[in-house]
Amino acid sequence: MKYTYVANWKMNLTYNESISFCTNKQQLKQLGSNAAQVILCPSFVALAPIVEMLKNSSVFIGAQNCSEYEKGAYTGEVSAQSLSEVGITHCIVGHSERRILYSETTETLVKKIDLLHRYNITPIICVGETKDHFTNKATFTVLTEQLKPIIKNVEQQKNKVLIIAYEPIWSIGTGIVPENTYLEEVFAWITKLLHSQLPEHAIQLLYGGSITATNIKQLKSIQNINGFLIGGASTDFKEFESIIQP
Ligand code: PGA
Repeated sequence: MKYTYVANWKMNLTYNESISFCTNKQQLKQLGSNAAQVILCPSFVALAPIVEMLKNSSVFIGAQNCSEYEKGAYTGEVSAQSLSEVGITHCIVGHSERRILYSETTETLVKKIDLLHRYNITPIICVGETKDHFTNKATFTVLTEQLKPIIKNVEQQKNKVLIIAYEPIWSIGTGIVPENTYLEEVFAWITKLLHSQLPEHAIQLLYGGSITATNIKQLKSIQNINGFLIGGASTDFKEFESIIQP
């Protein structure tokens, strides 16, 4: 089983910290293997230098967001085309922090996914329910609302690659990881939905939320999980390395 490991550094690492994470690290360059696809997602300013530093390595570089517009007068935005010109292969979109703090909607998310595909960048699409939704047993309603427009948008386009990251919002940065039985149920449900609706697409499913070197083993025992989206624990090289190579 080849797992995907996505490091979402958010705004936790500065430019200098991001560069020093990648400096003189032969072990980092070799993290990708037959058993692991590794994708580092630094902030925008660190993308180009890190692509350069890690060229000829087994590690992919992803962005944390992109504009929903192709080009034009959108001050402060970064286009999918620019990302592809820099050598970016993946891009996180729809992270709950963007949805909640920057009011991003599923409508803009769908436009971003389209543009990323147009520029051959694999979108890493985040979905997940709040604590309230979880408590009220509304997880599948929320996931349906989040996934249906995405499915509708890509179903006519054949053979697209999609990475879907299920991240319960109540687990992000809280140290709380859902019970295995709950994750088994959620991942079985998402797998069934996506395989029936998008049979011709290459889809990987990730789990994200408070992953550490300590709980990764337990998470790997869950069926239908193809990889992990790691926030806080990915900013420490030793911890990130031991998540990938326990
Ligand atoms: P965390 O973040 O690992 O720090 O909980 C995960 C994420 O937001 O992608």
